Amino acid sequence: MTTPKALVAGNWKMNGLMTSVREINALSNMIEKNGAGCEVLICPPATLIHALSGKGIDIGAQDCHMMQNGAHTGDISAVMLKDLGCRYVIVGHSERRADHFETNDMVKAKAHAAQMQGLTAIICVGETNTQRENGETLDVVTSQIMGSIPEDAAVAGTVIAYEPVWAIGTGKTPTTEDVAEVHAVIRALLLNKFGTDGNMVRIQYGGSVKASNAKELMAVPNVNGALVGGASLKAEDFYGIITAYQS
Ligand code: 13P
Repeated sequence: MTTPKALVAGNWKMNGLMTSVREINALSNMIEKNGAGCEVLICPPATLIHALSGKGIDIGAQDCHMMQNGAHTGDISAVMLKDLGCRYVIVGHSERRADHFETNDMVKAKAHAAQMQGLTAIICVGETNTQRENGETLDVVTSQIMGSIPEDAAVAGTVIAYEPVWAIGTGKTPTTEDVAEVHAVIRALLLNKFGTDGNMVRIQYGGSVKASNAKELMAVPNVNGALVGGASLKAEDFYGIITAYQS
């Protein structure tokens, strides 16, 4: 069975200024010099997409609106992201689900809008601490997956990121057994939806990934890359994660 090329993506969240161009330049130099055994993506805040583009690293976005244009003050559409050269957009990150009350239906509409423009949607799912403690992890993730992937989604336009909410920015990570269990359930759902092509959908793990734990987490079955927050802000830290894919 062929496995998809891993995707290691940095989600800068609401961090980064024009001076961050130097981090992209540094990362680009490291990859040029030492290579990368995976696909590399940075999703900076929208304000930096243009400035960071064209430096040899794929640049994506952290969110898009479900409509392509119109009276939506402050929002950014998938067509605008495509216009800037983005190939990826994160949708349904837990911080957006929590801070902006985004539902599965909204996440699905955003993923659909992105895919209509030929962008790949990185659809985020993951349980809260309370849900894990109540033994609801697999049910929560299943309903998020079922509710957030567009009916007409194509394999090429879909990446799933499993990010347990309690592991984000906390330094805590699930055991490799727990990651394997959730990723196996996600893979089964993808196979159910896409048939055997479901094997080609990348499933990233996210939540306190750093250079010191990347190799172990990335070796778990059905983990096809990482979605990285804090450790993606500095080129050196992020490159340390990328090297998990060097043999
Ligand atoms: P941290 O890597 O900072 O835990 O964040 C993970 C995340 O939310 C990436 O989208």
